[in-house]
Amino acid sequence: MASKSPLLSRVLLCALIVMLSALFIHAQTDLNGFWVFKIPRGDGTFAESYFELKQSGDTITGNTVGGRTQSSVSEGAFRDGKLRFSIATTGRGGQKGGTPQTLTTTYEGTLQGDKFAMTMTRAGGRGGRGPSTGDFERTKAEAAMPPAKLPLPALHDVRDNKLARTPPMGWNSWNKFAGAVDDKAVRGIADAMVSSGMKKAGYVYVNIDDTWELGRDAKGNITSNTKFPDMKTLADYVHSKGLKIGIYSSPGPKTCAGYEASYGHEEQDAKTFAGWGIDYLKYDWCSAGTIYTDEDLQAVYQKMGDALLKSGRPILYSLCQYGNNKVWEWGAKVGGNCWRTTGDINDSWQSLDRISFGTATPGGIRKQGEPAPPGLTQFDIAQSATVGHWNDPDMLEIGNGHMTTDEYKTHFSLWCLLRAPLLAGNDLRDMSDDTKAILMNADVIAINQDPAGLPLKRVSQEGNTVVYMRPLKGGDIAVGMFNRGDQAADIGVSWDSLGVAGKKLQVRDLWKHEAVTASGDKYTANVPAHAVVMLRVTAK
Ligand code: GLA
Repeated sequence: MASKSPLLSRVLLCALIVMLSALFIHAQTDLNGFWVFKIPRGDGTFAESYFELKQSGDTITGNTVGGRTQSSVSEGAFRDGKLRFSIATTGRGGQKGGTPQTLTTTYEGTLQGDKFAMTMTRAGGRGGRGPSTGDFERTKAEAAMPPAKLPLPALHDVRDNKLARTPPMGWNSWNKFAGAVDDKAVRGIADAMVSSGMKKAGYVYVNIDDTWELGRDAKGNITSNTKFPDMKTLADYVHSKGLKIGIYSSPGPKTCAGYEASYGHEEQDAKTFAGWGIDYLKYDWCSAGTIYTDEDLQAVYQKMGDALLKSGRPILYSLCQYGNNKVWEWGAKVGGNCWRTTGDINDSWQSLDRISFGTATPGGIRKQGEPAPPGLTQFDIAQSATVGHWNDPDMLEIGNGHMTTDEYKTHFSLWCLLRAPLLAGNDLRDMSDDTKAILMNADVIAINQDPAGLPLKRVSQEGNTVVYMRPLKGGDIAVGMFNRGDQAADIGVSWDSLGVAGKKLQVRDLWKHEAVTASGDKYTANVPAHAVVMLRVTAK
């Protein structure tokens, strides 16, 4: 008996310890409340997502917080120090208009001290990104929720900064580099802009898009992350090449990629940018939508327009709010030099065709409970751009590899006819001859940069073909004959429709770089699928 009892008591003791520690974990880990999941991005910043969790026994429910929409936690459980839950969202696999898909994100973590070491795995959707790991920590409601709305200024007309008398030309990091842009890449692009001949062709702005930001210093000044050790030195370098430099922020608390943005620091940030020597600001709505409504857009953008003027440095002001609330009617009033007219482009014919010829521009504000007003085309709003204040159908994808040479020529031709900003979105350090020939086609660039800056007119539209023309300074006419179809098509343009019938004509094909014969009363060309013929007509 006596020999049995120590063993029994040891077993009992162990059982007691296990029971007590389970109770302890449970008592110490009341999961009710707000949580943040912080994934290190490797540049000194964290991608953060917020949750409110509710615990009942080992069942966990709750929802995401802080974003424009909330998603519910499903299949949530907390057992033996392990937390697991899923969030299901509906997204469109890539392009707007694509088929909606359910994306399930699963979070699994082990309690370590007062936080969880968490792994997030995504299933469904495109691309199948690998799992991400980070800390899942307690936070406060204030950190999780968008900040209170600041009062907005009364509307007034912001003084014209007199920049961008022709559409801005340059490069932007987003389409090719996205989050991978850094100091070295920007310097390399500036070098390549000079050595490739792009600078000579007219490209001047080297624009850093999202993901350069870190946070704020003790005085509230915005700071750059480890990818950009010193913005002022970088700006000096770009300027030393005879080029200009651009940067990116948002009127909301966070940028589209979830980095620090200008909310409540508008004037301070404009001053910081001016101090660094910045020449161009792209100001991107995104998280501002968690605080403001679309009715506030004009006042919100006016605030930064004023701040840029007050900074004392000429800074080109590029609005990016995807064309909402008919930005072309008030973009110039807030001091905008250009404004995006659509959601994001991607490197596909489907995206290009939709933005170029489809109704990709929002026709106005969507009122709650009502269907969205019918979308507009680039052509519908073309008249509203004026010298210094341009419509921006988004940055170029030429050279990024997923469209044909003909499609990229269509892209460039249309952007030039539309008087759109020409911001190359490819890697200028590594360009094929075709890419160079498109981006540096001086004849087509001259149409974009024509000093008269008049809007284009539609000459004809039949089925998949459309012909645009634009009167140029000095009386010449630019003509674009576009074939959206999947088969080659004959497209004709009569001299009468251009107002030059009976005149002595000189006609130049701007992609073949040769004169074409202008006999008879029209010009007809066989235009391959997704291709364009561009002409410059001189009437004597
Ligand atoms: C938005 C913009 C893009 C790019 C990204 C960066 O999607 O429309 O052009 O700036 O944000 O996060």
